[in-house]
Amino acid sequence: MTIGLRPPSMWRYHEWLPFDGDPVWSLDTGCTPLVEAPALARRFGVARVWVKNDTVSHPSLSFKDRVVAAAINAAAAFGLDTIGCASTGNLANAVAAHAARAGLKGGAWIFVPEDLEAGKVIGTSVYGARLVRVRGTYDDVNRLCAQVADRFGWGIVNVNLRSYYGEGSKTVAYEIAEQLGWRLPTAVVAPMAGGSLVTKLRKGFGEFLEAGLVHGDLPRLYGAQAAGCAPIVHLVERGAGPIEPEVPNTICRSLAIGNPADGTFAARAMRETGGWGVAVSDPDLVEGIRILAEDVGVFSETAGGVTTAGALALARAGRLRPDDEVVLCITGHGLKTLEAVQHAVPEAPVIAPRLRELLELEKRTWPSR
Ligand SMILES: Cc1ncc(COP(=O)(O)O)c(C=O)c1O
Repeated sequence: MTIGLRPPSMWRYHEWLPFDGDPVWSLDTGCTPLVEAPALARRFGVARVWVKNDTVSHPSLSFKDRVVAAAINAAAAFGLDTIGCASTGNLANAVAAHAARAGLKGGAWIFVPEDLEAGKVIGTSVYGARLVRVRGTYDDVNRLCAQVADRFGWGIVNVNLRSYYGEGSKTVAYEIAEQLGWRLPTAVVAPMAGGSLVTKLRKGFGEFLEAGLVHGDLPRLYGAQAAGCAPIVHLVERGAGPIEPEVPNTICRSLAIGNPADGTFAARAMRETGGWGVAVSDPDLVEGIRILAEDVGVFSETAGGVTTAGALALARAGRLRPDDEVVLCITGHGLKTLEAVQHAVPEAPVIAPRLRELLELEKRTWPSR
């Protein structure tokens, strides 16, 4: 097996991805850093912690690049020249960027709830995509997209190309295993919206176990959601049955899916691996963003705040153990959701360009230094 000698992208694992031949688009997506975070390990009271840092994903700074890379190559194989999506923001950025890079003749049609953050909206329109803001929740947008897929025959990445889209998420698991030196962590904490990522983490780790590339047990999978939209966490807590849809009410718009397509699979993945679900309040997720930035030097969007605060809550509840080796999946960049943190950080002082003013400021503001 020559995986380690291949170019650093998600396509180094092509044997486990659903394509014949070589991918034609997005050859640089994947292989994001796995950053060890000893300060987080101390904070959580566990042996080791790593951050899988998809905030620096190519080309659009979230893990959604992986799923779009998979879907756009499926679209190419099917001869589709127009792609689209229903999105809570990051998928919109990724579809727009990939369609522009590929120079698709029909371009990209992107449907989002009307109340998304400026970074997500501008970070989609800038690529020349046709962005449509829909009055309603993501679940309303998704229903509209199902009709669009039927009517126009476009490749809607998370509707009629969803089975390819989902496979892209497995590459997060493959990379974690390789970057740890062909072994598995004992626990993984990941954010959940539609529930695809958590479901596919289990599949990805399972496939590497089956192939004999790693040994031991599947990691315990923990999924995190905002308390204002936590239908998958609530299903894990109930134990069985269908998803009970919720109307989202959270600043974490990227995870605000009230009726998640893969919710039951995600809940099963968590329970069957010995993991659990965790829901965090909006103030706690903002604190999670700050903790991750200060402890690790990684600036995450709101989903990463949910994941970090969720991991802290799991540690405090005794679900993460002292001998655990934990990976946090940090899936999108903080510059996309500045609105969430702008009131939580101190305003920077302004001074005249004189040393005397700086010395006075220091005495006034940081007297103990
Ligand atoms: C940054 C970020 N992380 C995680 C997720 C959750 O992904 P999934 O829908 O696969 O659960 C999303 C979904 O939009 C997201 O934007």
